[in-house]
Amino acid sequence: MLPHPYYEIACQAAHNAGEILKSHFRQSVSIRSKSAGDFVSQADLEAESSIVDLIKKTCPSHQFLAEESHRDRFDAPELWVIDPLDGTSNFLHGIPQFAVSIAYSRNGKAELGVVYNPISGEWFVAVEGSGAWTSEKFPANKSELRKLAVAPDSSLADTMVAVGFYYDRGKIMEATLRAISEFFRKSIHGVRRFGAASLDLAQVARGDYGVFMEFKLQPWDHAAGALILSEAGGTLSDCLGNPLSLNGPTSILATNGTLHLEALEIAQRNYRDA
Ligand code: IPD
Ligand code: CA
Ligand code: CA
Repeated sequence: MLPHPYYEIACQAAHNAGEILKSHFRQSVSIRSKSAGDFVSQADLEAESSIVDLIKKTCPSHQFLAEESHRDRFDAPELWVIDPLDGTSNFLHGIPQFAVSIAYSRNGKAELGVVYNPISGEWFVAVEGSGAWTSEKFPANKSELRKLAVAPDSSLADTMVAVGFYYDRGKIMEATLRAISEFFRKSIHGVRRFGAASLDLAQVARGDYGVFMEFKLQPWDHAAGALILSEAGGTLSDCLGNPLSLNGPTSILATNGTLHLEALEIAQRNYRDA
């Protein structure tokens, strides 16, 4: 158990949502297209309602920034930022890389982050000032949590880079592809595109790769993962080097810290063209 008054409820909400996602995974679910390549399914909607309903029972005055149905003010004093299913495209294609992502922020500062992949059973959790942790079981018991720490990679030539693509098939996509070729020219070990930003951030926190970059993400994609990564010793900014905000879409560069400036040079140059 990590020391935060809402830790348990956040984990319980993620667990319940995970059960809903598992019950629909690789079954036929109704789907609606939000824009080209961007879908919402019955699974996203049911998972989100179950999270919001549970939190509202305990915290009736709190507000929500949740992808599918709740858009309260990003600067609300007690705000839950929720992606009930991060990685919908993977989910709909039967690919088991998706997560429930829940963050709690007080007065604009993230205090609690939970990212849970219900298929692998992996949990990534963090409380501000108490580190970032992982577990293959429900993370109630501190003795079962293992501390997360970023990779020691000290140059791009030592690391693996993960990227994401927004639903854009134009300038943002082209600029991302140009950034990828620049990363390759730095002799990186490889590029990965896994398809769930919350897990990408958690995997930088675990040291799987040293850099994650995406030119457009929404607050619910990064709120929990960003706290997990910063508690694991990583560095986050947008692709111009500014601090991340929950106030609308943003680009993101998330690294082990050591690689931030080297990666920012590439991200920045290409993001400016997007
Ligand atoms: C998406 C995933 C994906 C990222 C997209 C996000 P969704 O979230 O995080 O990895 O590349 O930009 O929108 O739509 O599956 O919740
Ligand atoms: Ca998402
Ligand atoms: Ca989503």
